Amino acid sequence: MPGKDDIVIVSAVRTPFSRFDTAMADIPSIDLGVMVMKEVIRRVRVKPEEVDEVNYGSCIPAEVALETDVPARQATLLAGFPAENISLTLDRACCSSLTTLRLGILAIRAGEAAIVMSVGSENMPRTPHLAPGLRKGNRLGHIHLIDCLFELGYTAKGFNPVALDAGEMALEQGVTREMQDAWALQSQERYAKAYAAGKFRIGEELMPVAIPQKRGNPIVIEKDESPRVTTMEALAKLKPIYGSPTVTAGNAPPISAGSSAILCMTRAEAERRGLEPLATVVCAVASASAPREIAQIPAYTILKALERAGLSIDDMDLIEINEAFAAMPLVSTKILAGGNEGKWKALQEKTNVNGGAIAIGHPVGASAGRITMTLAFELRRRGGGYGVASICGGLAQGEAVILKV
Ligand SMILES: CC(C)(COP(=O)(O)OP(=O)(O)OC[C@H]1O[C@@H](n2cnc3c(N)ncnc32)[C@H](O)[C@@H]1OP(=O)(O)O)[C@@H](O)C(=O)NCCC(=O)NCCS
Repeated sequence: MPGKDDIVIVSAVRTPFSRFDTAMADIPSIDLGVMVMKEVIRRVRVKPEEVDEVNYGSCIPAEVALETDVPARQATLLAGFPAENISLTLDRACCSSLTTLRLGILAIRAGEAAIVMSVGSENMPRTPHLAPGLRKGNRLGHIHLIDCLFELGYTAKGFNPVALDAGEMALEQGVTREMQDAWALQSQERYAKAYAAGKFRIGEELMPVAIPQKRGNPIVIEKDESPRVTTMEALAKLKPIYGSPTVTAGNAPPISAGSSAILCMTRAEAERRGLEPLATVVCAVASASAPREIAQIPAYTILKALERAGLSIDDMDLIEINEAFAAMPLVSTKILAGGNEGKWKALQEKTNVNGGAIAIGHPVGASAGRITMTLAFELRRRGGGYGVASICGGLAQGEAVILKV
């Protein structure tokens, strides 16, 4: 039964997700964040001063550092929020924009806030190279540049690139390269079908991004830039990346820029404002596991969320598992199926039904918000139901949220 104290999502929006080398990929992540922050409240006529807390996630600090740190504070001020607004910048790797949602929910439950905003923003293509040591002078010899985007690696401290762990873990779980390529193909095909059916158009989860030009009209980006047409044969030809046994440019997401924002309040507050909730948040949980279990962690986190909610995976009408690589939805649905082949196939059928990050893109700090709103809008199109969205983040961290529409 819906309760007055339920926490509901009343608005959710994102920018299109960019390709590597397009006009949108030149916009600082903070500016992309400002765009979604303004839009997510504009759509429901909430004023900036009515938002008690803004939690803002990102996970590539080097890009944020180009505009100096504390992007949450800068973005809120640039977006016209009052100086008194409380904000927090948060980095839980790719989990960040669900962690921000969870913290906002906790703030409402604790009576600290009535309206909370969760933001995720990232511009991966804009990540600069680092030149350590120059401050003390380079007395002699070559300057060493570090690309902290390369491999999204944790290698400097002895951990593996995510693609290596994901590929090895997938093979251990019996998820082959061919299965991962087939999932990638399906992701592209499902996205194309969804787009042709009018989904992923401006108005629901998407807002346009207008880029002013020195002369003439602005460039207006109205759709995701990365989806592509492909075949199993073309996918099979691609070489693995970052030392992974299975992960390729085809079964991995591209490198993207983009932002997402979600606005939450209690059902009572939504009713008072005459707002129809997009979804009720049943529960939101975090988890972590052994660092190499990156492909398994969405399953472990979903199981934790289901237990917390007193529900089973069979109660879920839809599932979103972020395609950090194709390995993640495949391995995680296999674990959720408990080794039952038929059930595994059935779970795959209701996972990422409109395609996923392989087609859409994965601006890492923004993707958790993206899968949450993609789930909510699809549940609404289908007339309601339960759904769960889960994402993995560096070194096997997880977030999951169960929604009811
Ligand atoms: C995989 C990755 C290295 C590829 O980067 P890139 O080389 O700039 O990507 P491209 O789009 O140019 O693709 C590389 C090649 O694969 C081909 N390709 C990519 N996707 C394809 C597909 N679905 N089907 C067929 N070919 C494809 C491209 O056409 C290109 O071929 P070319 O070299 O002959 O032009 C980069 O996208 C990446 O690092 N992705 C993972 C990001 C990540 O780790 N995210 C976080 C997860 S936790």
